[in-house]
Amino acid sequence: MSEPGKIGIVGSGLVGSTAAYAMVMRGVGREIILVDLNQARAQAEADDIRHAVPFAHPLNVRAGDYPDLAGCRVVIITAGVNQRPGESRLQLLERNAAVFQAVVPNILAHAPDAILVVATNPVDIMTHLAARYAAAHGVESRRVLGSGTTLDTARFRTLLADHLGVDPHHIHAYVLGEHGDSEVLAWSQVTIGGMPLADFCRHQGIDLDPGARQQIDTRVRRAAYTIIEGKGATYYGIGSALARIVDVILRNQRAILTVCTPLEEVAGVRDVTVSLPNLVGGNGVLATFRQPLTQEEFDQLQASAQVVRGALDRLEQ
Ligand code: 2OP
Repeated sequence: MSEPGKIGIVGSGLVGSTAAYAMVMRGVGREIILVDLNQARAQAEADDIRHAVPFAHPLNVRAGDYPDLAGCRVVIITAGVNQRPGESRLQLLERNAAVFQAVVPNILAHAPDAILVVATNPVDIMTHLAARYAAAHGVESRRVLGSGTTLDTARFRTLLADHLGVDPHHIHAYVLGEHGDSEVLAWSQVTIGGMPLADFCRHQGIDLDPGARQQIDTRVRRAAYTIIEGKGATYYGIGSALARIVDVILRNQRAILTVCTPLEEVAGVRDVTVSLPNLVGGNGVLATFRQPLTQEEFDQLQASAQVVRGALDRLEQ
């Protein structure tokens, strides 16, 4: 039996521990277990975050091992290895696949009812693999999701909000496809207060010419590179995105999020994991929506899905 507010985080580096911190700040769940190969690190992060509790929400944060995940409703996976000098992306993928092959069954042995939320990069491929390893334990694919383009969607909304002078909560805009270079900003689907983007701009006398769009597109697509150049890693954005995803699951909020999950077909590409707008609730992904994209956006989405499918093919060779 799972406990309603119990959350596990496997991998307590910057992303995992920032997710825990964001959950304490937002009041998501009641108990967080931090698991890491480096137990001293997990312990230190748990202690540090617990000291924030009196200033935030009453969550119990502690370090633990796999058996401590028993009863978790949700387990976030951020575990993985970093690229070695001279190592190719595919070699890195192979090593991370091996990590997941061990980690996923280990989680499910102790928390068989948990929803798995993958954040390890490349997140689409790692989510696809996690779902495959989980399926061997009878877990349906809708119970395995990845952070996908949740963060890119937030970045898109943030930049549009700045340009349009509107609270980002009132902007509906989605980034689809791979969480990576080939992602697709679905400009044709943007609405603000129920108005299509072009109508809104006309009404407000705002200029959003192709140059301004291109600038927003590049800043969304390149955001992680720019941040990594400046400070070595990204974690506040993704940590907050993970806290939001977990909140939606625990409260069965039925929110529409651009998480990634294995899909039978995306823009003609079969058996692939990329992000589309998904209805997310207590049982994971409840529905996936296909937006009426322009032909150009559809072609970009197809190319993006092919990037992920191609990487999976190479891995499977
Ligand atoms: C990000 O987009 C690197 O995936 C990470 O912030």
